[in-house]
Amino acid sequence: MDKTIELVNNVKDIHSMPSVIVKALNVMKDPNSGMKELGDIVIFDPSLTVKFLALVNSAYYGFSQQISSVNIALSLLGMNKVKNIIITVAMKPMMSNQGDKEIWRHAIKVAAGCEHLAKMGSVTKADEIFIAGFMHDVGKLVLNANDPALYEKVNQEVAEGAYILDAEKKYFDSDHTKTGALIAKRWQLPVFLTNIIKYHHNPKLSSMPAICNIVYNVDMMVRDDFKPDLLDKEFILGLGLEETEVYELRDTILQKANIMIAELQ
Ligand SMILES: [Fe+2]
Ligand SMILES: [Fe+2]
Repeated sequence: MDKTIELVNNVKDIHSMPSVIVKALNVMKDPNSGMKELGDIVIFDPSLTVKFLALVNSAYYGFSQQISSVNIALSLLGMNKVKNIIITVAMKPMMSNQGDKEIWRHAIKVAAGCEHLAKMGSVTKADEIFIAGFMHDVGKLVLNANDPALYEKVNQEVAEGAYILDAEKKYFDSDHTKTGALIAKRWQLPVFLTNIIKYHHNPKLSSMPAICNIVYNVDMMVRDDFKPDLLDKEFILGLGLEETEVYELRDTILQKANIMIAELQ
């Protein structure tokens, strides 16, 4: 059997997506469903409601008044942002393995960065890109769930300078773009998300290179061992930034992401 399929088949507990995410995605797809149905998903899940309101009231969104109900949040944020929050909160329990917490923190950093950059530029699907950033490394969960100790070896080699896809191939005979694309397909995530998960290390191959390139650049930017050389120069110029200003942008993104991480952990 193909190694990627075997790795995905091995991880039964991430085979099905959390039911609130399935419900939220179905509401978004269904033209007959709307704000009320989306709000109900949050309201009927008390722990989701608590996290949801904490995040909505945090400095991440920066509303001046206190938001005390899910329905008010919905009317202020709109359905797409609320769906993004539902997914972000509901994915967290799935990321409880050794090593997953770092994957979760990284997911939030890339999501917050993508949302920030989308606001700076004129990107279509600006609301969708948050979730693309959040999900881009979902394949790492599959590898880590298969063998956390082995994935730790991958992390060590990457810390010593190895290219992540090569290190994963060495230990797992697959990589997180392949396992991620397959799990996204099994979860029936929107095609554009599957595409970004598959090509975020090689955005030129994506059928949505502009969005994929944002994810790629933010992914590089939020790394602890940030190296400006890894960024796409044209992309940075396209944002109207000098190379030195990238450091300020990185700080802003990490500050926003850390607010979200603090509220949700
Ligand atoms: Fe990745
Ligand atoms: Fe990443």
